[in-house]
Amino acid sequence: MPTIITIAHQKGGVGKSTLALNLAYSFSKNVRTALTDTDPQGSIIQLQDLVNGIDILPYNAETFNQDYNVIFVDTPPYIMETMKPIFEQSDLIIIPTKAGVPDIMAIRTTVELVKEVQKTNKRLKACIVLNMVKPRANITDQAREQLKKYNLPIVAEIKDRVSYTNTFLTGGVQSGGDDIAKKEIEALTIEILELL
Ligand SMILES: Nc1ncnc2c1ncn2[C@@H]1O[C@H](COP(=O)(O)OP(=O)(O)OP(=O)(O)O)[C@@H](O)[C@H]1O
Ligand SMILES: [Mg+2]
Repeated sequence: MPTIITIAHQKGGVGKSTLALNLAYSFSKNVRTALTDTDPQGSIIQLQDLVNGIDILPYNAETFNQDYNVIFVDTPPYIMETMKPIFEQSDLIIIPTKAGVPDIMAIRTTVELVKEVQKTNKRLKACIVLNMVKPRANITDQAREQLKKYNLPIVAEIKDRVSYTNTFLTGGVQSGGDDIAKKEIEALTIEILELL
């Protein structure tokens, strides 16, 4: 069985697909990696012709039975009925959030679903990634307090960088020229491996 890593957040535009693709590229350097999108209208499926070097799988009952070490699962921006079974099959849920208080509060529903599923799926882990963080922006004490309440590990943060917006065209930041972005994804990859 592959390790299933799901990127989830009920809000749109928080960088789920961008993160999923960059992490998939990063993992694919060392292990057999695939990427799927539970939303057939989602950007990963739509942009699959642009994605080189990782296998994009259609999402269906057979997806998680395939011969990969790791499958990244991109999800649509709302907690729909189908989200719970995906969490039930996952090993790790990555919850990206921007660093503002309202953004951090908005992940509550996703965190609650994680905690609920953890009662039955004992191997399920979860972490929060501060994503699209403005350079030089400091996370406020209020936001920090809010994050603590969720009682989940907060892993290496990803800054707001143009190189991430080009991810689908460039084959991930690992193939581009932004060395700081490369280091961010590498640091996040290491932290994810430590969590698993
Ligand atoms: N770290 C980043 N720095 C700068 N721009 C980013 C970053 N991550 C994502 N973006 C940009 O933000 C926008 C939203 O990203 P993305 O499509 O990955 O979000 P999403 O959560 O998958 O959205 P949806 O919920 O609609 O599927 C895109 O234009 C993307 O290029
Ligand atoms: Mg998306």
